Amino acid sequence: MDTIYDLLDSKHLEFLEDVLHGLSQQQKSIPSKWFYDEAGSHLFEDITRTREYYPTRVETRLLHQVSEEIGQFTKQLNVLIEPGSGASLKTRILFESSLNIDTYIPVDISEAFLHRNALQLQKDFPRIRTIPLVGDFTKSLPPLGLGAHDKKLLFFPGSTVGNFSPIEARSLLRSFNHLVGQGGWLLIGVDSTQDREQLLAAYNDIQGITAEFNKNLLKRANRELRANFDLERFSHEARYNEDDHLIEMHLVSDCEQTVTLGGKVFGFAAGETIFTESCYKYPTQDFLAMADDSGWRMEHAWMDDLESRFQIFLLRAKPG
Ligand code: SAH
Ligand code: AVI
Repeated sequence: MDTIYDLLDSKHLEFLEDVLHGLSQQQKSIPSKWFYDEAGSHLFEDITRTREYYPTRVETRLLHQVSEEIGQFTKQLNVLIEPGSGASLKTRILFESSLNIDTYIPVDISEAFLHRNALQLQKDFPRIRTIPLVGDFTKSLPPLGLGAHDKKLLFFPGSTVGNFSPIEARSLLRSFNHLVGQGGWLLIGVDSTQDREQLLAAYNDIQGITAEFNKNLLKRANRELRANFDLERFSHEARYNEDDHLIEMHLVSDCEQTVTLGGKVFGFAAGETIFTESCYKYPTQDFLAMADDSGWRMEHAWMDDLESRFQIFLLRAKPG
C-alpha cells in the first residue's frame, strides 16, 4: 500500500517534514511560511483590511507620501525584486511614482496567488517586464537572468523581516546584500511598535480573521498531508513577549488529544500549544545594528507619525 510519502510531491514532502519535525519538539511549532496556500494568501489580504491591523494601512499611506522622494534616490535602478510579494499592492505605488524600473521580479511561495497577481500587474503596467519566481526566499534563488548593467532595488515591505528571529533576520539581510550586489539598494518596512494593547488587538482582530489564518495551517495539513487535526479543538492565541519585542502566534490545544500525521501519533496536553509565527517588532536601533552587521548603510528613513512606530528604511549595500 502507498504511504503518504509515496503520494506527495517535493513541496508537500518539505511541508510534511517541517510539520513532523516541528511537532516532535518540546515546544511544538510549524514554520509560518506554510500559512500561505491560496486560502492563506487571501486570508492575509483580509487581515490587512481590518481596522486593528495597522501595519498595512500605515505603510501604504507612508509610501504614498514618500514614493516621489524614494524615486529621487533610486532613479538609476532598473530592476525591482520583491521577496514575499503577496498581492504586490504596495509595489503599484512605486510603479506609479517616478521609479525607472523596467523589470519586476516578485518572489513568493504561494504559487497560484503569485502568478495571478503577476499577470494582472503585467497587464496594468505593460512597460515593466514582470517575471514571477515561485520559491522560498530564505533559500538560494535560481539565476535571475540579469546582466551586469542591471541595477537592483530590493523591496521588502510589510515588516515581513519581523517574521524572522534576530539570527535569521541577520542571515536574510546578508543574503539580500549578496543578491543586489555592490551598489544595490534595499527598501524595507519595519514595524517598531511597542504598545501592548495596539499589538494584541492587531493580532486578535474582532472578526476572527487572524484566528482563521492561524487555523488554516491545520486545515492545510489535514488536506495536503492527510493529518487529522480537529479544528474545533484548537484555538488561536496571540501573546505579546515584551522582553524580546515580539508577538507570538500559537494554536492552543483546548483539551488532551492526539493527532495522527505521516504514520506518527502526536499527543497534546490540554493547553499545550503549537508555536506558529514570530512577529518581531524590532526597536529601530536593533534593526539598524542588524542591517549594519549585514552589509547595509542607511541612506534615509521615513516614519509614521500618526498611529504607530512603523518605518521605511532605504539602505544601500556597503562597498567591499
Ligand atoms: N509584501 C506584501 C505581502 C506580505 S505577506 C505586503 O507587504 O503586504 C508575506 C508574503 O510573503 C506572503 O505573500 C507569503 O506567501 C510570502 N512568504 C512568506 N514566507 C515566505 C518564504 N519563506 N518564501 C517566499 N515567500 C514567502
Ligand atoms: C506577513 N507578516 C509581516 C504578517 C505579520 O504581521 O507578521 C503576518 C501576519 N500574521 C498575523 N497577522 C499578520
